[in-house]
Amino acid sequence: MEIITYPDPILMRKAVPIEEIDNKICQIAQEMLDTMYDACGLGLAAPQIGLSKRLVVIDVTGEKTGERVFINPQIIEERGEAIEEEGCLSFPGVMGKVIRSQYVTVTAYNLEGEKLKIEAEGLLSRVWQHEIDHINGRLFIEMMTPASRIANNQKIKEFELAYQNSRAGVG
Ligand code: CO
Repeated sequence: MEIITYPDPILMRKAVPIEEIDNKICQIAQEMLDTMYDACGLGLAAPQIGLSKRLVVIDVTGEKTGERVFINPQIIEERGEAIEEEGCLSFPGVMGKVIRSQYVTVTAYNLEGEKLKIEAEGLLSRVWQHEIDHINGRLFIEMMTPASRIANNQKIKEFELAYQNSRAGVG
């Protein structure tokens, strides 16, 4: 699967809940995992592969074990604060500091339709917040500290220009 990059409008759209976990969703989830591992990402949200649905895959250990596919995830509790460098597969080469909650509690469904409750801290908490932002159409550049946003301004403008040119059939 190809990863969609900024500023494709699908990345800014609020994704819709998944009503039924069918074979197609299972297949897409597997392909999203493969795509995430190929890109050395820690997480990937369905809008990033062109599907505006509330589906994310996460594996911060890279061990390819345990629950890694999450349907209709929701943050039910968050606390603390942490500031760290963050990147996004839809923004190749862009890194910036983002303030996130240090701890989150998330509910989601797995591919078997079982409801999960997950407590995460640190890096895993950060990835959860990043991926749930994706399915809400919110991108990490909006969350960056002002200094990081300014430092990345030129790169972000280049993405926008490249997209306009591709739409106009130039280059
Ligand atoms: Co991302």
